[in-house]
Amino acid sequence: MTSPTEISDRYDLTNGIFNAIATRYDRTNTLVSIGLNRFWQHKLIRQVQKVSHQKVLDLACGTGTLTRRLGKLVGAQVTGLDPSDSMLRKAAGRTPYRPNIVFQKGYAELLPFSDKSFQVITISYGIRNFADRDASFSQTLRVLEPGGKLFILEFSLKANAGAGMALQRFYIGRVLPLLGWLSTGKKDAYYYLRDSIASFPTPQTICRELEEAGFVQVAYTRLFPGVVVLFTGKKTGHDVL
Ligand SMILES: C[S@@+](CC[C@H](N)C(=O)[O-])C[C@H]1O[C@@H](n2cnc3c(N)ncnc32)[C@H](O)[C@@H]1O
Repeated sequence: MTSPTEISDRYDLTNGIFNAIATRYDRTNTLVSIGLNRFWQHKLIRQVQKVSHQKVLDLACGTGTLTRRLGKLVGAQVTGLDPSDSMLRKAAGRTPYRPNIVFQKGYAELLPFSDKSFQVITISYGIRNFADRDASFSQTLRVLEPGGKLFILEFSLKANAGAGMALQRFYIGRVLPLLGWLSTGKKDAYYYLRDSIASFPTPQTICRELEEAGFVQVAYTRLFPGVVVLFTGKKTGHDVL
C-alpha cells in the first residue's frame, strides 16, 4: 500500500514536471511520437464509439487533446480531469467554448464524483504517472455505471530482445529525451518520461491489477508499431451498449 507521504511526494514530482512542460506539451508530444499520437487516440475513440458514451470522463486529460476529440462524438458530455494547473489552463485555452466539455482539477486517487457518474472513462498516458494505481483503479470502478467501460492508452515496451525492440529501446532511451529536451528546454521532464516508460509494468501485470480492482473482460492490444498498448475493462452489470 502506498503511504500518504509517498503519494504527496509523487504529486509534487508530477505536478512540478507537468506544470513545467505544459506550454510546449502538445508540440513536443507530436514531435516525439512522430505524429502517431493522433492515430493511437483514434484507435481508442473507435472503441468509445461502439459503446454508450453520453457521460465520459477523460482522466489525466492534460492539455485536453483527447477530451476535445471525445467532445465531438454525438451526444457526449465530457469531463476532463487533471491535477496540473498549467495543463488545465492550456486545455481551457485550446478548447473553443462547447457546453458539452468541462475541465476540472482533481486526482485519480480520489475522484471528485459520485458513484456511477460515467459510462466511459478514458486515460491516455496517465496511469504511468499516478501515485497509487490501485486506488485510482478502485476509484474509476466506483464512478463508472454498471456495464461502463474503461479505456487506457499507455506506453509499454515489449520484454523480448529482437532487433525491432532494440530500436524502440534506443528511441525511448536516447532519442525521446533528447527531442523532449530540445523542444521544451526541460531535460529532467523527459528523463522522467524515459524512466517511467522503462520501469512501467508489463501489460499482463496491469491487466491483473485491473481484475483485482474488480474490472471484468479485461484485455489489451498492442498498437502499431508496438510501443503503445490499449487496455479495456468493464464494470459488471448491464451492458451500456
Ligand atoms: C503524459 S500527460 C497525458 C495528458 C493527456 N491525457 C494526453 O494524452 O496528452 C499525463 C497527465 O497525467 C496527469 N497526472 C499526473 N498524476 C495524476 C494523478 N495522480 N491523477 C490524475 N492525473 C494525473 C498530469 O498532470 C498530466 O497532465
